[in-house]
Amino acid sequence: MSETEYHVPVLLGEVLELLVGGGDMAQPSIKDSRKVYVDGTLGGGGHFRAVAGALSGRDGAGECVVIGIDRDREALDNVRRGGLGGTGAKVILEQSRFSEFDSVLRKHGIDRVAGLLVDLGVSSRQIDAPGRGFMYMRDAPLDMRMDQGGGLTAAEFLEHSDEGELALVFEKYGEIRNARRMAGVIKDYMRQKKILTSADLKDCLTREYGANLKIQVFAKLFQALRIAVNGELEELRLFLDKSVRWLAEGGRIAVISYHSLEDRMVKEFFRAAEGACVCDPGLPVCNCNRPVLLKRVNRKAVTASDEEITLNPRSRSARLRVAERTKEACL
Ligand SMILES: C[S@@+](CC[C@H](N)C(=O)[O-])C[C@H]1O[C@@H](n2cnc3c(N)ncnc32)[C@H](O)[C@@H]1O
Repeated sequence: MSETEYHVPVLLGEVLELLVGGGDMAQPSIKDSRKVYVDGTLGGGGHFRAVAGALSGRDGAGECVVIGIDRDREALDNVRRGGLGGTGAKVILEQSRFSEFDSVLRKHGIDRVAGLLVDLGVSSRQIDAPGRGFMYMRDAPLDMRMDQGGGLTAAEFLEHSDEGELALVFEKYGEIRNARRMAGVIKDYMRQKKILTSADLKDCLTREYGANLKIQVFAKLFQALRIAVNGELEELRLFLDKSVRWLAEGGRIAVISYHSLEDRMVKEFFRAAEGACVCDPGLPVCNCNRPVLLKRVNRKAVTASDEEITLNPRSRSARLRVAERTKEACL
C-alpha cells in the first residue's frame, strides 16, 4: 500500500507555510539553529516527510531534527517500511501518545523545539482496516483503540460504563439527541446479549429504533465511542498545556482538528495564552495582567479549498490553527 493510499495529508501546503516557513507568515527567527520539529500524529507520514523535506535545502539542515510520534505501532512500521533517508534532517520515530511528547524530547536530550504539529483523529488506514473496528459500515469487532497494545476496547467500554456515563459520552462527543434513551437501550440489550461487534450494536439499535435509525446517528455514535475510548480530548488538553514550555522563542504550534469540541479547545487555549483578559467585565480597569505567551498566526481557522475538498472529502471539516511563542513568554 502506498503512502497516498494509507492517508492523504490534509492542508499540507498550509501546514508547511505556517509551521516551517516560506511566505509572509513564516517563522521570523528561531534563535536555536538546531531546529527541532515534532509531528505528534505521524499517521501515514505525509506531514512528517514534507516537514523533513522542506528543511533539506536549508543551511544547517543536517542539524535539524524531525520527530514523528504515533500511538499506533502499525503507523510507525508503515513509515519505516517506506524508508526514511534522503531528507537531510535527522529523523526519529517513537511510539508514544502526543500528550507525552515531552518525555520523548527529554529522552533525546532536546529542551526546545521550533515546531509542534498535531493532526487529530484517525487516519484513513485505521478507518478502513478491517479488525480495527473504526468503521460502522462493515461488521468488525468493536475495538477502536489507536494503540492496540493496551486500554479498553469499545466493546469493553460499553460493558464497563453505566447508563449515565454512556449518555454523557453520546451527548458530549456525538451530539446525539436523546442520548439517555440510546444509552438505556444499549444497557438493556447487554443484560440479554453481549455487544462485541458493530453488527451487534446495529442489531441492538435497529430493534429499538427500526427503520428510523439513520446511518448518520450510527456514525455519531461511533465517533463518540472512539473519542471516549482513546481519551482524545484529554490528550489534546495535556498537549496544549505542555506546549508553550517547549517552544523556542518564535517557535510555532499547529493543530488540525475535525471536531468542534477540539477546535474550540484550541481556539480558547490560544486566546488565553495570548493574554486575553479574564477580568469581570464589570471592573473599570483590567487587573489580571495575563502574560502574552503565544501570538496567533492566523486569527481565523484555515480551512481546505474547494479543490482540496473535491480531491479529499475528509478535508471538509479540517480546521488549522497556528500560534507562535512570544518573546515575553519567559518560562
Ligand atoms: C489524521 S492521522 C494523521 C495523519 C498524518 N498527519 C499524515 O500526514 O499522514 C492521525 C494519527 O494520529 C494518531 N494519533 C491520534 N491521537 C494520538 C495521540 N494522542 N497520540 C499519538 N498519536 C495519536 C493516530 O493513530 C493516527 O495515526
